[in-house]
Amino acid sequence: MRPEYPLKTDRLLLRPFEERDLDDFHAYRSLPDVHRYLYNEAPDRPECEELLAKRITEDELTGEGQRLALAVYWPEAGRVVGDVVLKWLSEADRQGEIGYGFNPDFQGKGLATEAAAVMLKVGFEQLGLHRIIAQCDPRNEPSWRLMERLGMRREAHFREFEIFKGDWGDLYVYAMLAEEYRTLK
Ligand SMILES: CC(C)(COP(=O)(O)OP(=O)(O)OC[C@H]1O[C@@H](n2cnc3c(N)ncnc32)[C@H](O)[C@@H]1OP(=O)(O)O)[C@@H](O)C(=O)NCCC(=O)NCCS
Repeated sequence: MRPEYPLKTDRLLLRPFEERDLDDFHAYRSLPDVHRYLYNEAPDRPECEELLAKRITEDELTGEGQRLALAVYWPEAGRVVGDVVLKWLSEADRQGEIGYGFNPDFQGKGLATEAAAVMLKVGFEQLGLHRIIAQCDPRNEPSWRLMERLGMRREAHFREFEIFKGDWGDLYVYAMLAEEYRTLK
């Protein structure tokens, strides 16, 4: 499954990453704040270059376990302001997961919700998924608020189920079923 690019919303264009996106990608991915609730630490520029090289290849889904990783380009700013991903968790059970990360300079405008909604659309309408989840640390309020804006339901709150950056970490799991997506639409 390879979407027809760019995927358009009212304000955004979603497309595969390109080598020339390195400055924009590095501008936010290298910030410790952006990685506060992510498992890995903020990458430096050479590491961003490696991450970007991988993302450039993640422009289609041909089997479970793969990710679609798209650059979110905001024409008004003339740059990539964030990224969204859709992971294909299971082909047999038609399960997927979305994720997102945005440049703090472009947060608080609803852009991340607008972009993440596209990944739900692609997952349900193009990949034919039955259920899409999103997960975050409960302290990451902007993330779970976004999931709720999308219409996802909180299905689980796992307490102290892992060691996260040296301390016990909790996890929220949100989900949406294809049927719920159709109703919301
Ligand atoms: C998670 C993350 C993408 C959320 O970003 P965000 O800017 O809060 O999300 P949105 O772009 O959807 O913006 C929503 C905010 O914009 C406001 N807003 C302004 N104009 C808006 C509009 N036209 N439409 C919708 N919302 C709008 C909303 O009210 C909301 O603010 P609030 O939460 O104070 O109510 C961001 O915090 C991030 O990148 N974090 C670091 C990476 C990360 O943790 N990723 C998730 C890992 S699980």
